[in-house]
Amino acid sequence: MIDQATVQKIFDAANILEVVSGFVSLKRRGTNYVGLCPFHNEKTGSFNVSPERGIYKCFGCGKGGNAVNFIMEHEQMSYVEALRYLAAKYGIPVEERELSEEQKRERGERESMLVVSSYAKEYFMDQLHRTDEGRSVALSYLRQRGIPLEMIDKFGIGYSPVARDAFSRTALEKGYKQEYLIKTGLCVEKEYGLVDRFRERVIFPVLDIAGKVIAFGGRTMSSDKKLAKYVNSPESEIYHKSQTLYGIYHAKKSIVQQDRCILVEGYTDVISFHARGIENVVASSGTALTVEQARLIRRLTPNVTIIYDGDPAGINASLRGIDLLLEQGLNVRIVLLPEGEDPDSFARGHTSLELSEFIAREETDFISFKTRLLLGDAGGDPIKRAGVITDIVRSIAKIPDNIIRSVYIRETAMQMEVEEQVLCAEITKIHRQGPERPPAIPVAQGTRPAVPETLPVPVSPCDVEERALIRYLLLYGTLELDGETGEEEVSRAATVGEFIIRELEDDELTLLNPLYNTIREEYQKQLASPSFLPARHFIAYPDERVNAEVADILSDPYELSKLWSRQGNLVESEQMKLVDFLPKVLNNYKMRRLEILILDINNRILELQNDGNAEEIVECIKRKKALYDLRGRLSQELGRTGVR
Ligand code: CTP
Ligand code: MN
Repeated sequence: MIDQATVQKIFDAANILEVVSGFVSLKRRGTNYVGLCPFHNEKTGSFNVSPERGIYKCFGCGKGGNAVNFIMEHEQMSYVEALRYLAAKYGIPVEERELSEEQKRERGERESMLVVSSYAKEYFMDQLHRTDEGRSVALSYLRQRGIPLEMIDKFGIGYSPVARDAFSRTALEKGYKQEYLIKTGLCVEKEYGLVDRFRERVIFPVLDIAGKVIAFGGRTMSSDKKLAKYVNSPESEIYHKSQTLYGIYHAKKSIVQQDRCILVEGYTDVISFHARGIENVVASSGTALTVEQARLIRRLTPNVTIIYDGDPAGINASLRGIDLLLEQGLNVRIVLLPEGEDPDSFARGHTSLELSEFIAREETDFISFKTRLLLGDAGGDPIKRAGVITDIVRSIAKIPDNIIRSVYIRETAMQMEVEEQVLCAEITKIHRQGPERPPAIPVAQGTRPAVPETLPVPVSPCDVEERALIRYLLLYGTLELDGETGEEEVSRAATVGEFIIRELEDDELTLLNPLYNTIREEYQKQLASPSFLPARHFIAYPDERVNAEVADILSDPYELSKLWSRQGNLVESEQMKLVDFLPKVLNNYKMRRLEILILDINNRILELQNDGNAEEIVECIKRKKALYDLRGRLSQELGRTGVR
């Protein structure tokens, strides 16, 4: 942990122009600087740096933020890593917050485990290339499987010898502690001493996004069905399987550049794709995709292509993956391979060109994929057809963003030849029922419910809309509104931030998510201050949760504008279309709040009907009517300001 005063010092020192210039060549244009965007491929510079505001912004891909965000994005570092990086660059001593003995011990432990793992990787590689056993058994196996030497080096593939304790003995001799050999799972303790977990296997090291070795997968070279094909490192302090994607370190640069992540199943799939020059690929390693994995991808791109085997198991895995990815706000495409092929065999059987052409040709969005797949079974049966529609609508209902959802509704309406309104009604119904939750497990008093902290617990029913508002405040809050837009209500305020704050104030709306509301309140206080830079202010604000949330919002690669441009509805960038989006985003939010109020009042009326309280019912119905009127007016407004 870095203390707040140091964070402030780092922010004050980190000059956006200097920081960006380390990676991008910039030319002066007026008060700003312009260059080629490092986050997407372009021939003319749309990447702007404003030293005055301390921010960068690309008008091509929409990425933007402050110096810390730039380092986070460009170097794929976490918030704290980026702060340390900048502290080192500017010679600011980082005052570590006092660590407890427990924390010190934990940190020491993790570090020791990483050191042992890194040594093990070198050891296994050495065994593969420099021993007779490795060369004759393992290297020949890899060669026969068609894995080129270049890929063996790139992915650090190695070999763990037959002898029971070959690695254990060497590691102990070198002075590595038994404790960490066991904790990393490299060695297993038996009554007669340590034995190697991976013996007589080809070793695939697993790296985290920063390139640190955190685990291993060992493949047997024997075709004996009784042997597990893969043995993997156990969960440990440094390895959480559900949070890891194999290949992420080698893929991250390409994922950002291509603005797309390809998802496959296994180690060899990733490696064969790399051998064919496709590098934006990661593997979920044979288990169902998790929320954390989806989020890891989302840090780099909102676009995912799933490539799984064309057999029923592969299809089912794709179907399961789709909803989870949609829920995390990712755009999903699917490629099914010919039956009997997996990505590895398919890549090896085709040239680079054939492979990329196949993907481009076969890629379908999830609606077409589900439609094709499910309609195939349903045939002309209208009841089954209705079932297919429900199924697709369920998936769409999981998409957190209103606007993206409506685009998909339109698409489905077209493909299935049904009215958009019918689909909308269906989605509203699903949302009313609330999120699907597993049945509640009674919790003994005093114990915490068995919900992992990382699950996206919905703090309030309009988190998505509130987050969008906060995002606007942070990214565009100080942008001046052009009075000539003709949008009367917008021109009343001088800046984007002022507009949002005033609008909320006028309707006496506070934000339901307490964190977002803290930001709103503080923003309101700062509004009059001429030196107020929202992103900078909140990222260094003395509340860690605010810092983290703001960093997350600022580093969110998700951009509306991308979706629109793909739909042929060209919008050059979010910022340029700001005046159109702004009332829409606000009204969307108000609409959502109204819907919640209406839902509440309807429930209340039901309750009262059971109790037979006539007087109060009349009151409620009056109120309900007023809410409906308001909703009618708002929806007209929305129609007028809609981005169609
Ligand atoms: N896997 C595993 N344990 C197993 C089988 C599979 O951990 N017993 C994981 C591995 O990460 C593997 C992935 O699931 O890469 C996909 O499994 P599979 O398709 O069976 O393996 P491949 O990656 O195709 O490996 P190979 O090509 O060597 O058969
Ligand atoms: Mn395979």
